[in-house]
Amino acid sequence: MAVGSKRKKFRSQEWFDNPDNPGMTALYLERYLNYGLTREELQSGKPLIGIAQTGSDLSPCNRHHLELAKRVRAGIEAAGGIPFEFPCHPIQETGKRPTASLDRNLAYLSLVEVLYGYPLDGVVLTIGCDKTTPAMLMAAATVNIPAIALSVGPMLNGWHRGERTGSGTIVWKSRERLAADEIDYDQFMEIVASSAPSVGYCNTMGTATTMNSLAEALGMQLPCSAAIPAPYRERGQISYETGRRIVAMVHEDLKPADIMTRAAFENAIVVNSAIGGSTNAPIHLNAIARHLGIELDNDDWQEIGHKIPLLVNLQPAGEYLGEDYHHAGGVPAVVKELMTAGLLPHPDALTANGRSIGENCASVENLNPAVIHPVSDPLKENAGFINLKGNLFDSAIMKTSVISPEFRERYLSNPDDPEAFEGRAMVFDGPEDYHARIDDPALGIDEHTILFMRGAGPVGYPGAAEVVNMQPPAYLIKRGIHSLPCIGDGRQSGTSGSPSILNASPEAAVGGGLALLQSGDRVRIDLKKGTADILIGEEELQRRREALENEGGYAYPAHQTPWQEIQRSMVDQLAQGMVLKPAVKYQKIAQT
Ligand code: FES
Ligand code: MG
Repeated sequence: MAVGSKRKKFRSQEWFDNPDNPGMTALYLERYLNYGLTREELQSGKPLIGIAQTGSDLSPCNRHHLELAKRVRAGIEAAGGIPFEFPCHPIQETGKRPTASLDRNLAYLSLVEVLYGYPLDGVVLTIGCDKTTPAMLMAAATVNIPAIALSVGPMLNGWHRGERTGSGTIVWKSRERLAADEIDYDQFMEIVASSAPSVGYCNTMGTATTMNSLAEALGMQLPCSAAIPAPYRERGQISYETGRRIVAMVHEDLKPADIMTRAAFENAIVVNSAIGGSTNAPIHLNAIARHLGIELDNDDWQEIGHKIPLLVNLQPAGEYLGEDYHHAGGVPAVVKELMTAGLLPHPDALTANGRSIGENCASVENLNPAVIHPVSDPLKENAGFINLKGNLFDSAIMKTSVISPEFRERYLSNPDDPEAFEGRAMVFDGPEDYHARIDDPALGIDEHTILFMRGAGPVGYPGAAEVVNMQPPAYLIKRGIHSLPCIGDGRQSGTSGSPSILNASPEAAVGGGLALLQSGDRVRIDLKKGTADILIGEEELQRRREALENEGGYAYPAHQTPWQEIQRSMVDQLAQGMVLKPAVKYQKIAQT
């Protein structure tokens, strides 16, 4: 640093106030003046705060952030910062083909470049729709400048003829009614539309509510931020508070790596079980952890999370929706119930407001025990995931909290072997194959069949499709059989109440055991032992493995876009967070 120059406090001053390099400083500065900012503002030493804007007309779940950003700006300015709002790559869960999760890593990459390459001292991450939350947190982890997340909030509760209709969940339910001719096409559309009555993200405990809740449990949002419904006045108010707080975080130099520690992830796993969170959560949290250099895997999810009871009574595992969750007290009330029972592993974990999660939640009250149950009266015991292994895959997740009484009765009630079942495999290669053939009576699918979906992982169906929760053939539904066991290397929507065994890694497309399975094979699942196996000998498996190799491996559809090809060439498996492998080695890059 040259004698006489000012001491740099914030990284933005390297761009805008560097007397050692007047040429570059002028070039950086002048264009940001052209819409009315003044040189005095940009050289005042005030922190420049990004607002990573994920809302747009293409992203209706997050679109309300366009409005909320005004309150965020006001908060930033009130606290003495200068807001810089910028657009993020849109990720709309329901609108993007072939699947929105293909874009999680693309949005991650582009946000890393923005946060690293522009004069930002801190950032407000606008989160909401499923993949937007992990994409933002992964980028914050990699760059590690002060960051705080802001949920857009869930939609209001959906209602149809006096019944709560929840996003996604109502689609799965009504699809069965349509298949059984109980409703027609127009009624189907009307019922589904009733579940989306306002701005905001899915009002069920799908992947969006899960990931927003976990962003709060990780400490990356202000307390209560996850659950406030999008249209409520408190949503605008917490946007303002979030804007104020990020400025203070920059002054305190409080960064993502200080908040998202191993302890914070362990808290989040426990909260995920208690809320009945989505099976997408392990994928995304394992990914965020990897970008921080923290070890976290699906064994941790079982070990830390399985024994935790289900407390939150939200669809699909329960009956209520987002507004009810908020009125009961949201994430802080869940954390308080867990703390009271001694189940929160790390109450001392630091959060974005500078206090610990324990301090934040200590005096919170659970305002509706019908929506957030106390640990002494849970909806289900042992509600976390189990991590299955065997010759079918090294890791696959099962959400035991959504096992229905019907499913338990049919598959898990043998007194000699209560946690195990066997069946005959029916294998589908991707969702198109499933839709084309499921209703064909010649396949002989009955209640002893286990449905398999393969070719749906991060490589096979680029991004990994949410297709493992397969509906039985219409003829079985008409006979009252509403679900069959489903297993696959794809994902499933967090709004689905199906107890599928999914996220299987390695997937068929990279040579996982599912690629060796044939329709008609007998398969055994043992939930107690945590195993999933094709019941054939190693010799036969080896013969099939060689035959597959001779054919050039498991075939999957061609790339449709450049990004599909790029991502397929470097993406890791679902159990490992589906991260881009080369990206993991870049950590805390703003400091290097
Ligand atoms: Fe966007 Fe559910 S589809 S939050
Ligand atoms: Mg989804």
